[in-house]
Amino acid sequence: MRFIPAVFVASVLGSALAHPGAPHPDAEGRYTLEAEGIKAQFIPYAATLTNLWVKGADGTARDIVLGYDNTSFYPVDPGHPVYNAIPGRYVNRIGNGTYSIDNVTYLTQKNDGPNTLHSGTNNWSFRNWNVSKVSNSSITFSIYDASNSSLGMLGGVTSSVTYSVSKNKWHISMDAVSNDQKTPIMLTQHTYFQLDAFARPDNRTIWNHTLYMPEAKRVMKIDGNALPTGEIAEIPADDISDFWSAPHELGFASGNSNFENNCGNGCHGYNGNWAFNNKRDKRKSVLTLSSKWSGIKADLVTDQDAVVLYTCNWNDGKAEFKSSQGVAGQDKFIPRDGCIAIEAQDYVDGINHPEWGRLGKQIFGKGQKYHWESSWTFGTI
Ligand SMILES: *[C@@H]1O[C@H](CO)[C@@H](O)[C@H](O)[C@H]1NC(C)=O
Ligand SMILES: *[C@@H]1O[C@H](CO)[C@@H](O)[C@H](O)[C@H]1NC(C)=O
Ligand SMILES: *[C@@H]1O[C@H](CO)[C@@H](O)[C@H](O)[C@H]1NC(C)=O
Ligand SMILES: *[C@@H]1O[C@H](CO)[C@@H](O)[C@H](O)[C@H]1NC(C)=O
Ligand SMILES: *[C@@H]1O[C@H](CO)[C@@H](O)[C@H](O)[C@H]1NC(C)=O
Ligand SMILES: *[C@@H]1O[C@H](CO)[C@@H](O)[C@H](O)[C@H]1NC(C)=O
Ligand SMILES: *[C@@H]1O[C@H](CO)[C@@H](O)[C@H](O)[C@H]1NC(C)=O
Ligand SMILES: *[C@@H]1O[C@H](CO)[C@@H](O)[C@H](O)[C@H]1NC(C)=O
Ligand SMILES: *[C@@H]1O[C@H](CO)[C@@H](O)[C@H](O)[C@H]1NC(C)=O
Repeated sequence: MRFIPAVFVASVLGSALAHPGAPHPDAEGRYTLEAEGIKAQFIPYAATLTNLWVKGADGTARDIVLGYDNTSFYPVDPGHPVYNAIPGRYVNRIGNGTYSIDNVTYLTQKNDGPNTLHSGTNNWSFRNWNVSKVSNSSITFSIYDASNSSLGMLGGVTSSVTYSVSKNKWHISMDAVSNDQKTPIMLTQHTYFQLDAFARPDNRTIWNHTLYMPEAKRVMKIDGNALPTGEIAEIPADDISDFWSAPHELGFASGNSNFENNCGNGCHGYNGNWAFNNKRDKRKSVLTLSSKWSGIKADLVTDQDAVVLYTCNWNDGKAEFKSSQGVAGQDKFIPRDGCIAIEAQDYVDGINHPEWGRLGKQIFGKGQKYHWESSWTFGTI
């Protein structure tokens, strides 16, 4: 299936096609953006980043995000891990598939045990977005989400995401607005990293990547389904959730008795939500991910107040990585724990925790504007 030509011609709002030199998608439907030290590719399906090349310490360009070679596979992949896509209109979990606004209770679809995950089965990460603007260094995708098409969320929402690249940097900006009534809105870029691009010959797990989050001193306690219980805990130095007191390898706590089931029943490692300090300089890096093996480091700057980290416990070992990754002659399977998803966002399930004071950042009335902005800067260690 090629979803490009018909949708593409209908959806590009004239400008891109009218300009000679404006980029066209390749045969697989990918748009390519390039700047010094970086090359990124995107498809309209779920506004997905498919490939991201940056240079390692030895000068080798590596494709450091998860994805598929076959762009037609994204829509039909039964596992659908939301690879580098925009889930919406309300990301992550909604406890018990229920929330209320102004004393009216709304029911969302329970698609993750007793809870809703990524807005249920008509989520934005399963839709073809429109391409509304494109140049060699920037692309804008847009989506109109009709009332109740994200099941249980009423009122139309218009949204767009702009990805751009500049020297060593990937910048992401998202906007959304409710067109008629109060509705939950919370977005993220659900990016999965593997800074060795699976090319470290002896180890494809994420445990030897190093993470540093100097502003992340609080973490949500979660239940067996990875839903926040409501308690936000201070993180002591060297605790399993401590990435603030010093940079730690992601596997540093693997010997701890609570490493198993740390991210819900049957889940080891991390699938949690860290809150950043309220008073911080939002222009400074809040998270650094690095790998000694490739020498690549990635710094996140974001206007968001929290981050979700997931260390890919649920990978079944059967999905393959891309031909741009790995080592010639070896198999291509992504192991359990083979990646980390990093999702800057607001507090998970904040619509059900008024005591957290997040309602003003998660519920939007008619004409109220939601904005999300982050950038990743790449370098070497
Ligand atoms: C975009 O890149 C293509 C291929 O490198 C080039 O031919 C074209 O002139 C560029 N367009 C602009 C507007 O810079
Ligand atoms: C790409 O994926 C689609 C959907 O699963 C499939 O029909 C097609 O055969 C695949 N193409 C290749 C080259 O594997
Ligand atoms: C969970 O949601 C159901 C409706 O789906 C509701 O009847 C029930 O009271 C809710 N339970 C809790 C504990 O909120
Ligand atoms: C919601 O219900 C409470 C308790 O009955 C009431 O005090 C409050 O005014 C109601 N809020 C709205 C927006 O209707
Ligand atoms: C998103 O929607 C698709 C299509 O309906 C569905 O298959 C998928 O399970 C949904 N994603 C989640 C996380 O529920
Ligand atoms: C793309 O634009 C067309 C034409 O305006 C519209 O009908 C369609 O719903 C849009 N698609 C999305 C995903 O918003
Ligand atoms: C929203 O969609 C769900 C599922 O289709 C349906 O059960 C519910 O009645 C709808 N709500 C409204 C207010 O239309
Ligand atoms: C990769 O490294 C991790 C952390 O040291 C270790 O637990 C795992 O067994 C290693 N995997 C392989 C295949 O060597
Ligand atoms: C990888 O991580 C494990 C567990 O944290 C550690 O014991 C080991 O020394 C690390 N290996 C390398 C090569 O850094």
